[in-house]
Amino acid sequence: MKEGQLKQDGAGEERLSRFLARSGVASRRHVDELIAKGRVTVNGRVAVLGQKIRPGKDIVLVDGREVGGAQKPIYIMLHKPPGYLSTCADPRGRKTVLSLLEGVPARVFPVGRLDYDAEGLLLLTNDGDLTYLLTHPKYRVIKEYAVWVAGPRDESKIREILSGIIIGGKRVQVDYARFRNGSDRVQELVIGVHEGQKHLVKHICHSVGYEVKRLKRLKIGPLRLGSLKRGAWRYLSPGEVEALYEEARKGWEGEHDN
Ligand code: URA
Repeated sequence: MKEGQLKQDGAGEERLSRFLARSGVASRRHVDELIAKGRVTVNGRVAVLGQKIRPGKDIVLVDGREVGGAQKPIYIMLHKPPGYLSTCADPRGRKTVLSLLEGVPARVFPVGRLDYDAEGLLLLTNDGDLTYLLTHPKYRVIKEYAVWVAGPRDESKIREILSGIIIGGKRVQVDYARFRNGSDRVQELVIGVHEGQKHLVKHICHSVGYEVKRLKRLKIGPLRLGSLKRGAWRYLSPGEVEALYEEARKGWEGEHDN
């Protein structure tokens, strides 16, 4: 059994959060938020965190719509352009990445976040287990970014970044950081992180005095954006999906060799 695939409990019961994630409602973290906000009911009663259900017997509704159970997993790689939200809907009516996915036969949701003004590799899936493994820092799956910053090349800033930056009172461990290209006024850095706090790479750069001009995600674990064009998407191959699961398994066992 892969990491993150929880067992069913006794007498055919299953944790509600696992059932919702497996059913493609949202990632495991997000389904807990849905439950906490009272948007999930089981047999007509508002569900609570940690609740168990009997799949196929209990009636589970999210926002009044019935949840059907397991469906075929779908894995998509999108080259997100700037100017799109990596959420499923926006109350302010801004464009979301889902509008770029014409022809996808099932509901998918983004794996983690990529800022509105950021671009690059975004995974979308209905597999809540994989989403959990790729986004929870304990599995140490590294996301790699190219970031263009204003200012001169200064190696001491790289040392500062690598020594551990304090963000929101907590030390963030950066897996790697180096300069790649640059001119007098703009530098391109490559930064790898396995943590996923909001605006993490921007905070890292700001904390050493660099203003971020552009941010692009290049890799998630072994998966590279490659030559996929801006706004284009493709399905992952079974081998790519397996490699992502394998990366999380290695991270869990502490086998990373950055
Ligand atoms: N770090 C950021 O600052 N923004 C992103 O979108 C991803 C990582």
